[in-house]
Amino acid sequence: MNKNGALPNDRVALDAYEVENLFPTWSYLPEKAPLRVVSAKGVRFTTEDGRERLDFSSCFVSHNIGHQDPRVIEAVTRQLNQLASFAPTFSTEPRALLAKLLELITPGDLTRSFISLGGTEANEAAIKIALQYTGRRRIISRYRTYHGDTAAAMGVSVGDFRSWPQETGAGEVTRVPQPYCYRCMFGQKYPECGMRCVKYIDEVIELEGGGEKFAAIIAEPVTGANGIIVPPKEYFPLLRELCDRRGILLIADEVMSGFGRTGKWFAMEHWDVVPDILSMSKGITSGYVPLGATIVRKHIGDHFKDHFFSHGATYAGHALGCAAALAVIPIYESDGLIENSRVLGAYLLDRARELQDRHPSIGDVRGLGLFVGLELVKNRETREPMLGVDFKIRRGSNPKTALAQRLAELGMMAVTANPSNVVALAPPLIVTKDEIDEGIAIMDEALAVTDAYVEN
Ligand SMILES: Cc1ncc(COP(=O)(O)O)c(C=O)c1O
Repeated sequence: MNKNGALPNDRVALDAYEVENLFPTWSYLPEKAPLRVVSAKGVRFTTEDGRERLDFSSCFVSHNIGHQDPRVIEAVTRQLNQLASFAPTFSTEPRALLAKLLELITPGDLTRSFISLGGTEANEAAIKIALQYTGRRRIISRYRTYHGDTAAAMGVSVGDFRSWPQETGAGEVTRVPQPYCYRCMFGQKYPECGMRCVKYIDEVIELEGGGEKFAAIIAEPVTGANGIIVPPKEYFPLLRELCDRRGILLIADEVMSGFGRTGKWFAMEHWDVVPDILSMSKGITSGYVPLGATIVRKHIGDHFKDHFFSHGATYAGHALGCAAALAVIPIYESDGLIENSRVLGAYLLDRARELQDRHPSIGDVRGLGLFVGLELVKNRETREPMLGVDFKIRRGSNPKTALAQRLAELGMMAVTANPSNVVALAPPLIVTKDEIDEGIAIMDEALAVTDAYVEN
């Protein structure tokens, strides 16, 4: 070794080392080490202090089938014993089988896949495929969205504080509002608005020189980190029509909304819309092994039969990730998890609305499937947001960190670390009615913290 020293040999030393030497994600350097997780099972996890806690976040909405399912562990172990990974210029059986399975579970003629290592990479591939297929440079993206942490994916993550310091880019990005009806950027009300937000995109395209200037529009079908924004039912059919008329590709970023999260395999199915390119990750392996995938419609895939496909990576199609996905994906069907998401998602939404009746800090409740958001406000009448969009890059405590802290004391994790005013409830899809009641009771108690910030 190049340096002297031994590995930290107790918890205190390890905590201290971590604080001094590890970068956290999307935050200032912490003063103390985060809770260390030692095990997890189903919808619960255990921290080093021996305390069992309820996971109402599915770890950033990824562990859809729940923690430590023995069927997945067995399949991944079997693959590891046989062949951990191999150069992507060769085939492996799990990679080839997964491509077929992805074709089977996705809608329409989505048929050709590129398999990567995560959600960001899935979007990176989606953007590059769109640029290469169309030969154009511009992408349309919508405010309040997150598509990932690399240059291109970050470049289209517009209106999210994470993109502010690093606009290194996806080439040229045209920014448009999304259908965030609670805070409509046009000051309109649905349905009287006549879907002004889609008409606006059409006008922008016209004024920027027409469809031939744009490669694609990228959109989260149900916006996740930036606020559980569920679009009106007309939105995606109209956007599909616009894209067809203008000759622009539609990229659906289903990294969070895919794999049963909203009560369908993919959220776009709620509106019978087939995107040209669909990116996925998270639920594809439910976090057992990192994996992402990008699947494209047949004619787009076929284009690359006589055009060079300019994308790749050493670990593309990694055998362990593919083996995990091959074990995880059938579980959604065999265990009825997508149906559970639909049925218990409706129950969770009802219970969340009861919270709104009791807590003045909740301005709006919305969701689809087991993907429910509570939007925090200072004042329900004026809808003044409890936090500005820049709250994460301001030092110190704020209502959401205070809520997260209270939830941790009470033994639960919800999605509180996202950049919006919304706290999301997204338990693993195996959750039961009793566990939802348990989570709602904890949230009920914890919301006293945010109620204290309400101004009348
Ligand atoms: C909609 C969406 N796209 C892309 C990503 C990036 O995925 P990853 O963190 O796996 O790179 C995320 C992450 O939360 C996401 O929510």
